[in-house]
Amino acid sequence: MTKTFALDPLLSAFAGPSDPAAAAVYPQSLLLLPPGEARQSLLTVHSILEAKLPTSDLRIYEAGGGSTSFLPLKVLERAHVTVVDIDEDQIRNNDYAQEAILGDIQTHRFAPGSFDLVICYNVIEHVPDVEAALLGFCQSLKDNGMILIGAPNPRSLSGVVTKYSPHWFHVWFYRYVRGEKHAGLPGCAPFPTLFHPLVTLSNLEAFAKRHGLQMIYRRQYESPRYPEMRRKKPVLAALVDAAAKVMNFFLPGKADVRHGDYHVILRKALK
Ligand SMILES: C[S@@+](CC[C@H](N)C(=O)[O-])C[C@H]1O[C@@H](n2cnc3c(N)ncnc32)[C@H](O)[C@@H]1O
Repeated sequence: MTKTFALDPLLSAFAGPSDPAAAAVYPQSLLLLPPGEARQSLLTVHSILEAKLPTSDLRIYEAGGGSTSFLPLKVLERAHVTVVDIDEDQIRNNDYAQEAILGDIQTHRFAPGSFDLVICYNVIEHVPDVEAALLGFCQSLKDNGMILIGAPNPRSLSGVVTKYSPHWFHVWFYRYVRGEKHAGLPGCAPFPTLFHPLVTLSNLEAFAKRHGLQMIYRRQYESPRYPEMRRKKPVLAALVDAAAKVMNFFLPGKADVRHGDYHVILRKALK
């Protein structure tokens, strides 16, 4: 397991997401994250990818692409990115992939050993057959290649609420709590969430072991929705924080129900 890196001192020196100096170093997806555990974990993910990916030209498979890249700019600059997404609008919105394929990650297959990195970020929670998608990722990877997964944690407060609430409630949350006016319109989040059992971290870890993948990074972190909510809706955030503290009190160990998301990096062993 790789240690967590300290917050990048460079990042704290920047004025904000619109600071051109910051935008030259970090992707917008990172700059838009509020300071906190989510941003810290993404910085750690970036450090690992920069250290472990080959220094030559890279081939990257973005499974469920959308319009936002979570990859470090230094990696993107030397990469040929192939995006596969099931949604035409999302494919149209993508401006960083060299190749865009309208397709289903559960069934789309590439030649074995095609990619150095597969990234699947905020996607597996929407997919009915996660095992089929993951098997496709493994097959498409070169030896020593990596899979980066970013997903919500089904065993968290937000995970349980998302799983058991109707889709209209997710749209309401995005519109009125997050302030995203276009939420729920074609090509805009939130997308219907299914939570296949493999989205649960322990099941994902068992899958990795069975398929010769080493989990080189795993971190559950406080969902960025919490700091965002504390800023935009402080009264609601105070209520949710109080409820979370009560739940944490009754949970064993140091579990925190606010750990609503995770990052995982899997590495395919050399044959
Ligand atoms: C929440 S968005 C995330 C997009 C992007 N990765 C991001 O983080 O901004 C989920 C994406 O997964 C895509 N998606 C969902 N199921 C899919 C499937 N079976 N095959 C391909 N793409 C899928 C959706 O169309 C959407 O673009």
